Amino acid sequence: MIKFENVIKRYTSQKALDGINLQIHHGEFVSLVGLSGAGKSTLLKLIIGEERIDGGKILIDDVDITKVKKSDLPYLRRKIGMVFQDIKLLPKRTAFENVAFAMEVCGHRKDKIAKEVPKILELVGLLHKKDNFPNEMSGGEKQRVAIARALSHRPVLLLADEPTGNLDEVNAAEVIDLLLKINQLGTTVILATHAADLVNKIKRRVITIEGGKITIEQQKGKYKL
Ligand SMILES: Nc1ncnc2c1ncn2[C@@H]1O[C@H](COP(=O)(O)OP(=O)(O)O)[C@@H](O)[C@H]1O
Ligand SMILES: [Mg+2]
Repeated sequence: MIKFENVIKRYTSQKALDGINLQIHHGEFVSLVGLSGAGKSTLLKLIIGEERIDGGKILIDDVDITKVKKSDLPYLRRKIGMVFQDIKLLPKRTAFENVAFAMEVCGHRKDKIAKEVPKILELVGLLHKKDNFPNEMSGGEKQRVAIARALSHRPVLLLADEPTGNLDEVNAAEVIDLLLKINQLGTTVILATHAADLVNKIKRRVITIEGGKITIEQQKGKYKL
């Protein structure tokens, strides 16, 4: 599904990513780990086409995304959902409305939205909070609404950049369990995190990145830094 061939990314004279070779298949759950500044977010930004590469190639389902026109990027992004550490729900909208708004922006019809949103909230275990506002939810619940929002256009790939960064242990575990469930339902998931304890519990493929290079690859890995 995703193939990086000798990818190089520079923001400054220093390389943020330095010769990344990587292949991720449909249906995988991959944890991308490494210290702050290692290049995790950069790698995810390249996948959604938010940053451009300075060398190499990135293929998504055999399409070279480095050659995709800017005007065609929205089509690529529609395949992908993304969640961040910084959750950014609309504060004056309920859980339902936050997810519905994302679908409106994508141009979905009202009747479809009315049907789909409850299903997605059910999936993330928050149907009972559909009329609650963000300030009436825990951090973990808010992140689960953000995940529901990211899933609203039915992406084949979900990217999560430090999604548990602002959460306590219990809420973080809830979010990871949800990501695993989404993966089991068929969505490919890439989780970027520096949280060793979380990754060790997941026991899935781990890619360790240090100073812009992949240093360790493990199939049922543990995070070793
Ligand atoms: N917009 C930017 N401009 C300049 N340097 C950047 C920018 N974004 C990231 N970097 C640098 O690229 C490197 C990798 O950053 P990043 O991908 O954010 O790492 P991580 O997500 O693993 O913490 C770091 O050295 C960081 O300072
Ligand atoms: Mg980061």
